[in-house]
Amino acid sequence: MGASCLHILSVFSIFLVFSVPWAAADLRVDTFLQCLSYREHPSYPISGAIYTPNNSSFSDVLYSYIRNRRFMTSTTPKPLVIVTALHESHVQATVVCAKFHFLELKTRSGGHDYEGQSYVSNNPFVILDLFNLRSITFDDATETAWVQAGATLGELYHAIAEKSKTLAFPAGVCLTLGTGGHFSGGGYGNLMRKYGLSVDNIVDAHLVDVGGRILDRNSMGEDLFWAIRGGGGASFGVILQWKIKLVPIPEVVTYFKVGRTLEEGATDVVHRWIQVAHKLPEELFIRAQPQVVQVGDQKTVNVSFIALFLGSAQELKPLMERDFPELGLKPEDLKETSWIETTLLFADFPSGTPTTVLLNRTRTPIYFKFKSDYVRKNIKKEDLTLIWKKMIELEKVFVQWNPYGKRMSRIPESATPFPHRSGVKFKIQYLVIWFEDGEEASNHYEGLVRSLYDFMTPYVTKSPRESFLNYRDLDIGNTTRCRTYLQARVYGRKYFKDNFRRLVRVKTIVDPGNFFRNQQSIPSIIWYPNEKVKE
Ligand SMILES: Cc1cc2nc3c(=O)[nH]c(=O)nc-3n(C[C@H](O)[C@H](O)[C@H](O)COP(=O)(O)OP(=O)(O)OC[C@H]3O[C@@H](n4cnc5c(N)ncnc54)[C@H](O)[C@@H]3O)c2cc1C
Ligand SMILES: *[C@@H]1O[C@H](CO)[C@@H](O)[C@H](O)[C@H]1NC(C)=O
Ligand SMILES: *[C@@H]1O[C@H](CO)[C@@H](O)[C@H](O)[C@H]1NC(C)=O
Ligand SMILES: *[C@@H]1O[C@H](CO)[C@@H](O)[C@H](O)[C@H]1NC(C)=O
Ligand SMILES: *[C@@H]1O[C@H](CO)[C@@H](O)[C@H](O)[C@H]1NC(C)=O
Ligand SMILES: *[C@@H]1O[C@H](CO)[C@@H](O)[C@H](O)[C@H]1NC(C)=O
Repeated sequence: MGASCLHILSVFSIFLVFSVPWAAADLRVDTFLQCLSYREHPSYPISGAIYTPNNSSFSDVLYSYIRNRRFMTSTTPKPLVIVTALHESHVQATVVCAKFHFLELKTRSGGHDYEGQSYVSNNPFVILDLFNLRSITFDDATETAWVQAGATLGELYHAIAEKSKTLAFPAGVCLTLGTGGHFSGGGYGNLMRKYGLSVDNIVDAHLVDVGGRILDRNSMGEDLFWAIRGGGGASFGVILQWKIKLVPIPEVVTYFKVGRTLEEGATDVVHRWIQVAHKLPEELFIRAQPQVVQVGDQKTVNVSFIALFLGSAQELKPLMERDFPELGLKPEDLKETSWIETTLLFADFPSGTPTTVLLNRTRTPIYFKFKSDYVRKNIKKEDLTLIWKKMIELEKVFVQWNPYGKRMSRIPESATPFPHRSGVKFKIQYLVIWFEDGEEASNHYEGLVRSLYDFMTPYVTKSPRESFLNYRDLDIGNTTRCRTYLQARVYGRKYFKDNFRRLVRVKTIVDPGNFFRNQQSIPSIIWYPNEKVKE
């Protein structure tokens, strides 16, 4: 690995910059800032978008879109400059100038990256923050919309609901997610069984490439357009905006959230859920969320079943009685409401919360470590019992199980970079959240979530053990400065299966110098001259 790196370095005679990355960084910042001002568009001055550590608002700007406190400590590496683009030309200038001055670029839209990859690097870096670019423009005739990368899902859902009571868009349940990162990593939510992922409903995009050009679907070509719909935007350019196709929904939908503890028969219910959740009609999405709770002086597991049904309670009742009577729903469990209201309920806002909270971009940062898995086979009741026992032992780790099937199964694995399609019963997300500062707490809680992940090995996919890119997890493999293709292939296969190969091909063509990179980006082959990269 070292040898191939050095070989490249001497070829490009930039040994100093690359071997001592922070050397002369200050000097490069000065010339970087000059470069920005020379490239500014006369009608759109860039000075108001530039924050250096000298600026009293620097920390506020940096922290306002950090969602994970693990990357908010005094030892977390800080950017040399933050550019809060006010116009597309600022994005173009930042890309060109950062590249020329060997500064790494971190593009941030909503800042939810689980591993801080949109605002942390071990090399001298600049943050390109897109929160100001957040317009949403509808075309009523085609039921499409252009959505800028800095728009949040809450803003998008709110704007759609203002337009129509019978249109929606399939995307995530967390309302502060930025569409820049969220869509480019796939984007799933509770409409997935009927309409697939966000990326399955994107029809065009504007992207700034490594040369600072703005490309649309036509000029970027189908390979690159394919890659950014699930392969992660950060490897390929900066996405400015997406064109999305809205989907029809009924005016009245039905929501329920019920819980069953082990003592109330949760094991049987979950066992049945594993058989049927992915086979239920596509209008019905039932998430199962097992969590350790205290009942009296005893710890047990309580499994919440949280559901969206695209139809009335009257239609849902016989369906549940036929397909999933084990859940034992009562008529009073069913709440008829509007789709927009369910976006709030899924985000845990109490019933009746005004929809204007969808526009709130603030999210209190917490310490967290999350991981993911996919399940393609049944889990026996005895094994469920073992899993509950392990969870009770760990106590603080909870899990979310999201059912697949229907539309998700009908889309071929290679249609987008997202490969977890036919045959997947459900996806697991493992979650641990904590409030104590310090490395010791961090190691402790991260250890808990890793322990459950290890325990689950026999029940989940293997070779590769599949993971969801939007649930980024550096544990499953990562690369550093002198990364090698073989290192990247480890996480690449887990996130993308065979699509990794095509992603590498696209990357090598559109960004051969590997300017757009992070610890889990798609590698460009020309950087690995000594490796066997043929597959
Ligand atoms: C509380 C919470 C709930 C979540 N719920 C869901 C869910 O329901 N469904 C789901 O699918 N995911 C969910 N996620 C995961 C989420 O989709 C990803 O973290 C996603 O990457 C967030 O996008 P962002 O723009 O907010 O993040 P950022 O941190 O800004 O970006 C994430 C990655 O995308 C890159 N990127 C960002 N913007 C651009 C751009 N404009 N062009 C190119 N690259 C870009 C970044 O460099 C980084 O690598 C959740 C995350 C959290 C923290
Ligand atoms: C900080 O940056 C903002 C925006 O660029 C600018 O308006 C402000 O004057 C700067 N403040 C300082 C102290 O440099
Ligand atoms: C920050 O301020 C110091 C002292 O005022 C100055 O020397 C330096 O050039 C400034 N840096 C930037 C990037 O503006
Ligand atoms: C179990 O979960 C349900 C649904 O989330 C909740 O209403 C109930 O209070 C929980 N029960 C316990 C004992 O925590
Ligand atoms: C926005 O959300 C934050 C974080 O949850 C909260 O503290 C704040 O009060 C909210 N603001 C409004 C106006 O609702
Ligand atoms: C990076 O990946 C390796 C395995 O490839 C793992 O051991 C290490 O812990 C990971 N680093 C981080 C920061 O997670």
